[in-house]
Amino acid sequence: MNDNLLSALLADMSIEEKVEQLVQLNGDFFGGAEALTGPAAEFHLAENQPYRTGSVLSEHGAKRLRELQDKMTAEQPHHIPALFMADVIHGYRTIFPVPIAQGCSFNPKLTEEISAAAAREATSAGLHVTFSPMADLSRDSRWGRCMESTGEDPWLNARLAESAVKGFQGENVGEKHKIAACVKHFAAYGMVQSGRDYNVTEISERTLLDDCLPSYLAAIKAGAELVMTAFNTIDRIPCTINRHLMRDILRDEMGFDGVLISDYNAIGESIIHGAAEDSRDAAKLAIEAGCDIDMMSECYIKRLAELIRDGEVDEKLLDEAVMRVLRLKNKLGLFENPYKDGSEEAERIYLYCKEHLELSRRAAEESIVLLKNNGALPLKKTNKIIVAGPLADSRRIVGSWAIFAEEERTVSPIAAISALYPDCDVSFYPCTEADERLIAAAKGADAVVLMLGEDQTMTGESMSRADISLPDGQNELFCTVSAAAKRIVTVLFGGRPLAVPEIAEKSDALVMAWLPGTHGAYALADILFGAVNPSGRLSMSFPYCSGQLPISYASYRTGRPKPDVDRFIPYLSNYMDVPNLPLYSFGEGLSYTEFEYSPVTLSSDTLSRGGRITASVTVKNVGERDGLEPVQMYISDLKGSVVRPTRELRGLEKIFIEAGGKRTVTFEIDEEMLKFHTLSMDFRAEDGDFAVRIGGSSRTENVAYFRLV
Ligand code: NOJ
Repeated sequence: MNDNLLSALLADMSIEEKVEQLVQLNGDFFGGAEALTGPAAEFHLAENQPYRTGSVLSEHGAKRLRELQDKMTAEQPHHIPALFMADVIHGYRTIFPVPIAQGCSFNPKLTEEISAAAAREATSAGLHVTFSPMADLSRDSRWGRCMESTGEDPWLNARLAESAVKGFQGENVGEKHKIAACVKHFAAYGMVQSGRDYNVTEISERTLLDDCLPSYLAAIKAGAELVMTAFNTIDRIPCTINRHLMRDILRDEMGFDGVLISDYNAIGESIIHGAAEDSRDAAKLAIEAGCDIDMMSECYIKRLAELIRDGEVDEKLLDEAVMRVLRLKNKLGLFENPYKDGSEEAERIYLYCKEHLELSRRAAEESIVLLKNNGALPLKKTNKIIVAGPLADSRRIVGSWAIFAEEERTVSPIAAISALYPDCDVSFYPCTEADERLIAAAKGADAVVLMLGEDQTMTGESMSRADISLPDGQNELFCTVSAAAKRIVTVLFGGRPLAVPEIAEKSDALVMAWLPGTHGAYALADILFGAVNPSGRLSMSFPYCSGQLPISYASYRTGRPKPDVDRFIPYLSNYMDVPNLPLYSFGEGLSYTEFEYSPVTLSSDTLSRGGRITASVTVKNVGERDGLEPVQMYISDLKGSVVRPTRELRGLEKIFIEAGGKRTVTFEIDEEMLKFHTLSMDFRAEDGDFAVRIGGSSRTENVAYFRLV
């Protein structure tokens, strides 16, 4: 359909019909009047009204959605098809590493592949829209949802968000097996105060613009069809009714013209925030702020039509919002084929298909991070090995958003090791406490691999923790077992950086496995036994303790900086009890081989506006194994009209180098990547000196200097 036909359709719709297009309800509303419970009963909707709404939340499955679509198109007076939306965050049935782990792959291409695979499965199951990517910058691992973010860096998050959108949507979202992407949560949800979920966000406008918005913008520029609002306030105004945020920043400045959907009941929650009087006031504020779809509150469905009839809301606003929804349906091709790619046949072909399961394993291989190794890894196949700990036999290692996955398909670490290394002398003790048997076995073994951390029920939405040390007495388990073991290898699972200074100190090797997905445990086993050389790097720093949070390598310079020493110095910006630097910083991670960097060479030490220069390094693999290395370029603006971050990631290339080989990597530097919001709030680069550092982590001191003129 072209826009003229859509306009004609819109012109023919009643006010009620138009409002219904802006309403999203979940499956509770679609089971028949007698089945209504919870909010579905409280909404008191007319009997078949849910079937006339514009979109449905979380229902899935080809058969179910075909039937639902038939009923909805029959009920809707103009037979407009419904949109089926769900949280396909890192996989539908086949689950890939959680987003924070994907961040650690330092390989945006991988996220594109993962998103394309997730789209293939989700669309086969009849879905049209996924609530992904989550582009929220996250520097506080008390916040359980850092698991859903790709980490602490605006630039890396931007690359991953745009890759996810490309993977989900392809060139054209109407194509087969493409799904519309909804970037969320707009805005700065990851900056909630004290890491407590749903709390307020209190940041400066400059922090919002320079640090938080670039990743959403990258997703929008990549073509994300939808944006979701955030639960938090910004500048004391709930995002969902924040007109400045939605209209001035998102629509006018960032140029977003797709569908803006509220988060779950977020319009209704503006009343609880005390920022709206009642549901009528909330509906008015939300539509005026530019929120198109009301997810799961009664505000639009009960109040919007009367607001328009009473002349309190301009019908033009309603029409604009409905037109955006109709355009999205049209782009997805739903007027021609309301089921899109949903079919039971497609489900049989794609769900858990071989290619997706292999990708789940390969993605985990690149996302698992080796944090410490004094030679304990890889394990020697001829050694006597004990694998123990509460997560050793767990299948709860895929993530709290794996809501459509079947648990029995997940391979546990023990299952993976048994399948891949049946001939090794490995004994398993999937325990939560150290009993006599385990201690005796640990004493008699060459190495103990202890699998600790948080399972998927401890990290995610609403799962904030004030203390991010190991849960459930695991520290005691570690101390007892490590005292008995000749060598101890600790594997941590979870969705957030944990504070584990003691574990880091006493372990012979430390591996962060995250929540690696359906076949991620195979990748872990291969890393432990050396079949795979690890190449993940932290996309979020590991603090010493909760008290360091929030933390990022891209810190701002103080007037009393502390030299890089592990000691308290009075009257400097430091702690009396812990270092300033995190335990492991952004970009860090080890390999089984070693890479040596040449000094940085610049094509010129002067960059003119509008021009570009290059920065190159030659990287040599001086170890004995082939390996992947994420080569990272950081830029520091040495003096600005406002205080600038100490360094910022501005380039990344993950390269493969065979043992003994070398490769030259060249990055381009232009004025664009030096821009920030200056003292006068203009977004521009300022003349002056810059340092460019290129190396294998954010701590690299391999530096050269140039000047922007
Ligand atoms: C609430 C979450 O904040 C959001 O991320 C999610 O997409 C919606 N619920 C829908 O499930």
